[in-house]
Amino acid sequence: MSDVQEYIGDGLERFTEEIFEFLRIPSVSAKPAHNQDTRHAAEWLRAKLKDAGLEAEVMETPGHPIVIGEWRGAGADAPTILVYGHYDVQPPEPLDLWDSSPFEPEFRDRRLYARGSADDKGQLYLHVKAAEAHLKAGGGLPVNLIILAEGEEEVGSVNLVPFVEENRNRLACDAVIISDTAMFAPGLPSLLFSLRGLAYCEIHVEGPSSDLHSGVYGGPVVNPGMALAQILATLFADEGRIAIEGFYDDVLDWDDETRDAIRDLPFDEDDFSSGVGAVLAGGERGYSVPEKLWIRPTCEVNGLLSGYTGEGAKTVLPAKAMAKVSFRLVADQSPERVYDLVRAHVAKVTPPGVTSRVEELTGGMPWRAQLSDKLKAAATSALLKAFGAAPVLAGEGGSIPIVSDFERVLGAPALLVGFSLPGANLHAPNEWFPKENIEKGIRALAYLYEELG
Ligand code: BES
Ligand code: MN
Ligand code: MN
Repeated sequence: MSDVQEYIGDGLERFTEEIFEFLRIPSVSAKPAHNQDTRHAAEWLRAKLKDAGLEAEVMETPGHPIVIGEWRGAGADAPTILVYGHYDVQPPEPLDLWDSSPFEPEFRDRRLYARGSADDKGQLYLHVKAAEAHLKAGGGLPVNLIILAEGEEEVGSVNLVPFVEENRNRLACDAVIISDTAMFAPGLPSLLFSLRGLAYCEIHVEGPSSDLHSGVYGGPVVNPGMALAQILATLFADEGRIAIEGFYDDVLDWDDETRDAIRDLPFDEDDFSSGVGAVLAGGERGYSVPEKLWIRPTCEVNGLLSGYTGEGAKTVLPAKAMAKVSFRLVADQSPERVYDLVRAHVAKVTPPGVTSRVEELTGGMPWRAQLSDKLKAAATSALLKAFGAAPVLAGEGGSIPIVSDFERVLGAPALLVGFSLPGANLHAPNEWFPKENIEKGIRALAYLYEELG
């Protein structure tokens, strides 16, 4: 075994303790009450990058800071790799549904339970340790390395896009590597061929100037809750299609190679169905479950707000209603175009007697991999060594909006290789990361840097 791999075996216990320390910091980006914690996580990470042998700094943004670690000792002939990850996490609530405290990491059943264990602090840290192994035991890294960690991924990366644009020379690279996704199955690593994008909005409906007695006024006065329900019902047509005019115009048909690859994956619909406790009756007819998840767009109601929702019967005609509606997008849709289409659609179907408006929240472009054979071969060989299995090509239904910005601004392809597993409870109670993938992930990334060098 090489010195680098030996270093990883010897250091594993310490690496694990450090991951626990990182996960104990409640870096919840969405909540201002955690701003100090989020900054603490950034400072903590900077110190660890420095200990690992990189030059590191915390850079201010109008929001949460960005952490950069750099090592450029491989020389001008060696490739430069940009690793991206995020040190912020989703809020842990509802707390009573956790079996152990979200910020007190714990091993149970060969899993590491903690908020951020999989998404994404745990995975980001695997890169730091892989880099450290090369720097401490391998006489340097085989590539020039930039590790970029942001603290606002879970709130839309608003400050990272301008940061990447302003620092495009400093961030210039030959490939972007990201570990913020899952393997296809236990023991079966994967490389992603796609991520979905996102257009998230609120639909507001307003009626009378205040809440009214529903008996005294109901009838002639249009009920905003009912009007919103009518509007939402028009978003779908038969066969699970989205009924917004023009919505599918930019949806690409996928190449046969990718569709064949999806069909060949050992995807078990019954397992998936029982895992979520639901019958899989949704989505467009004519597509398999993985296709519905990865290469077709969706429309979802995320939340509804109107009228009285407390105990008992309060007879009220609410003055307003609101729905949080998101669309998962696929290549070549864009959130801007979808917002335009949604606005036009909602205006058209709003019944008389109420007004409506669409407010845009977070958006992000979908992404479709442009993996060179070289990149694919390097990753395949590294994963084969660490996991004893070659990776499959898989898609992902979630979104990492910055990926397409990296490719657009830096002109370098992104390689998405993650080590979490399906069912890891991202954004939910009891988030976990497979214990064995701490070691295997670090080993795989150390091999990957080597293969790329
Ligand atoms: N790491 C996730 C994306 C993801 C989800 C990858 C599931 C693999 C499996 C990322 O942190 C995330 O949660 N993204 C948000 C984006 C949004 C906040 C703009 C998402 O997909 O909802
Ligand atoms: Mn993530
Ligand atoms: Mn997330």
